Amino acid sequence: MPMASTLTIVRNPIFLTHHYQFNKQFTTPSSLRLLSFAKMEGSEISEEVGEDSRAKRKIFVAGATGSTGKRIVEQLLAKGFSVKAGVRDLDKAKSTLSSANPSLQIIKADVTEGSDKLAEAIGDDSEAVVCATGFRPGWDLLAPWKVDNFGTVNLVEACRKRNVKRFILISSILVNGASMGQLLNPAYIFLNVFGLTLVAKLQAENYIRKSGINYTIIRPGGLRNDPPTGNVVMEPEDTLYEGSISRDQVAEVAVEALAYPEASYKVVEIVSRPDAAKRSYHDLFGSIRQR
Ligand SMILES: NC(=O)c1ccc[n+]([C@@H]2O[C@H](COP(=O)([O-])OP(=O)(O)OC[C@H]3O[C@@H](n4cnc5c(N)ncnc54)[C@H](OP(=O)(O)O)[C@@H]3O)[C@@H](O)[C@H]2O)c1
Repeated sequence: MPMASTLTIVRNPIFLTHHYQFNKQFTTPSSLRLLSFAKMEGSEISEEVGEDSRAKRKIFVAGATGSTGKRIVEQLLAKGFSVKAGVRDLDKAKSTLSSANPSLQIIKADVTEGSDKLAEAIGDDSEAVVCATGFRPGWDLLAPWKVDNFGTVNLVEACRKRNVKRFILISSILVNGASMGQLLNPAYIFLNVFGLTLVAKLQAENYIRKSGINYTIIRPGGLRNDPPTGNVVMEPEDTLYEGSISRDQVAEVAVEALAYPEASYKVVEIVSRPDAAKRSYHDLFGSIRQR
């Protein structure tokens, strides 16, 4: 017997998706929570559908060949999502990402090339965009501004054009270091000396917050490639000024943000600490107040 043959078509204020699937691949606790939340918030239509009409929720990931981006792609696929991986270099993507996976589509998307091209790449079937881009150091001192500020703004504009209502940004702790009394923090100085990187990110954050899109801005501490050694600590904006976290955990927070309505319209700062208690994402996101 199939797990379920009822598809609930939902237009809720958080995700504004056209449909949520309730099938074998999508019966994780998070998806169940998501579905029940959708019902709570007022599902509009419920109708019976056959198995064949099931389609997976598709997420567009910008910066998908990056060290965090590729982990986000992997975790989304593992959770049963379809992924449109936005990349600058298709050849690199083929070697970085598991391109044999039928749920993965790789598409060229340079965030500096403007919102029209990005809107084309996002298409009309992506329900959320996750931005994991970051400028690559080089001779162009304006690169942080072009990628981390204007590039992200372009992505938000592309979402508007495609009516994508959900946006997850990987930003950084200390972006607002100047207001936190951290002007002399070596990390704040270092990251701004080359192209005002943190200032560029803050500008993009402010644009997102004013855009009306349902956002979760994730500000991690220093990123590590090694597996997690502690539990996630989540704090409100402008709180953390030191600490680090595994990119695996950053990717997890980004993916979980898609499932938890408590993550909506929030800026969260994250690091990991071995002595921190393990908390559910419901609890973590729920503990941060919207501003
Ligand atoms: N490093 C840290 O300790 C740290 C700490 C806190 C926050 N962060 C932030 O966290 C995010 C992820 O960091 P990461 O180290 O995992 O990233 P990363 O490995 O440096 O990857 C950056 C990604 O952005 C892509 N990219 C660069 N320019 C682009 C453009 N014009 N259009 C589209 N994509 C572009 C790169 O594409 P290619 O693969 O083609 O180069 C790459 O996929 C970044 O925003 C970073 O600033 C980093």
